[in-house]
Amino acid sequence: MASRTTIDPPPQRQPRRPRTRTALVVGTAALLAAVGAPAVAGTTQAASTLGAAAAEQGRYFGAAVAANHLGETPYASTLDTEFSSVTPENEMKWDATEPTRGTFTFGSADQIVNHAQSRGMKVRGHTLVWYSQLPGWVGNLGATDLRSAMNNHITQVMQHYQGRIHSWDVANEAFQDGDSGARRSSPFQDKLGDGYMEEAFRTARAADPAAKLCYNDYNIEGINAKSNAVYNMVRDFKARGVPIDCVGFQSHFNSASPVPYDYRENLQRFADLGVDVQITELDIEGSGTAQADNYSSVVRSCLAVSRCTGITVWGVTDKYSWRAGGTPLLFDGNYTKKPAYNAVLAALGGGSSGAATCTATYSKAEEWSDRFNGKVTITAGSSAISNWTTTVTVTPPQKVSATWNGSPTWDTSGNVMTMRPNGNGNLAAGASTSFGFTVMRNGTSTPPVLGSCTAS
Ligand code: G3I
Repeated sequence: MASRTTIDPPPQRQPRRPRTRTALVVGTAALLAAVGAPAVAGTTQAASTLGAAAAEQGRYFGAAVAANHLGETPYASTLDTEFSSVTPENEMKWDATEPTRGTFTFGSADQIVNHAQSRGMKVRGHTLVWYSQLPGWVGNLGATDLRSAMNNHITQVMQHYQGRIHSWDVANEAFQDGDSGARRSSPFQDKLGDGYMEEAFRTARAADPAAKLCYNDYNIEGINAKSNAVYNMVRDFKARGVPIDCVGFQSHFNSASPVPYDYRENLQRFADLGVDVQITELDIEGSGTAQADNYSSVVRSCLAVSRCTGITVWGVTDKYSWRAGGTPLLFDGNYTKKPAYNAVLAALGGGSSGAATCTATYSKAEEWSDRFNGKVTITAGSSAISNWTTTVTVTPPQKVSATWNGSPTWDTSGNVMTMRPNGNGNLAAGASTSFGFTVMRNGTSTPPVLGSCTAS
């Protein structure tokens, strides 16, 4: 019998047709075909690595890699065991591949590509046209020489790796931060004008027609002036037939730049333009449950968007993160899995065999003009569980006015509800229960965001 803590019962009006939104389960077979990920047939146990769990969702799960660490056993074995895609962290940038005009050096990048491909991992290419890590000679060229150097660089680097790179960041960080929506100053922008970007993408398509061509940037993860500017460029490219296939959302998060509440909505609006979206440089400062919940929410946002084809974290271990002194990754400095790792694996539907795991999925049950009812289904992993916990975050000024089938507690803001069982904590392997709640819209219809499900 459901226990109900009713504060303010919903009015008895004709509900609109229920619309179910499943956060975790997607059309796996179609997506597997779309991205060429290996199908896992007849799996009865949850996948136990990030790459395998992501493949079951039709996605890749990658890491940025530095060539000079590949010889370190724990680094390479963690990479090889857990990840299904790699991005060279610095080795494909212009200063590494063409330090002197016309002289190309691919040694370190080749090392990474060979390592990855000999182990069945995919490779993301990063990056061809960027204002940073650009050798001095490029900035000294006049417009005519610069155009020809840019096109030659794109052509030579892409043809060297032709057919071996699933997605290329053709252009990186070409827009300014802040509210202007303007292009960032760079030798390309300043000497060639806006049109350099289009030219770069056209040159890239000709150089390797099999590679997906991406625009990649940071601070575009939520809906804001900068992401609007990128959105308008992609829309214009699609309308005019300029070749672009994907947008990379770097996703470097910390307390000053948190995971945005409208992340999923933003990914979806880009996908609706007819491009894939990828999370390309994910790292999130913090530790423990807070960091784990943030990671989980990023993964669930990607899984909720069918054109979100993969996630890359910006490094394997905290030991070598570009954020000096930070702990933003999934493995600590000793290569031990962090709570964030477990949260990502669980959000991908995986779990280590025998461990108590659960997944939480959200659906909207009923709605009225002033409120809606949400339903969260908790499903045990491959082992029986006796307890579960998850969080539900609403967007202010929304408020939760009633809950049922669970025992809620609240954070100080009143926006984050932690839900525990109310007599429905014992679940057999694979079994489900659910709890519900009423959200007063107060003018905002944004769906609630679920935290990761933890079980014991
Ligand atoms: O390899 C040299 C070494 O020989 C030298 O002794 C040392 C000291 O100067 O520098 C080493 O190179 C450094 C390189 O990382 C490799 O560690 C560069 O100075 C340093 O600038 C470079 O930083 C990289 C940064 O991009 C450069 O902008 C980071 O590793 C890399 O993680 C970071 O990645 C960027 C993405 O490409 C784009 N998005 C943001 C992201 C984070 O900043």
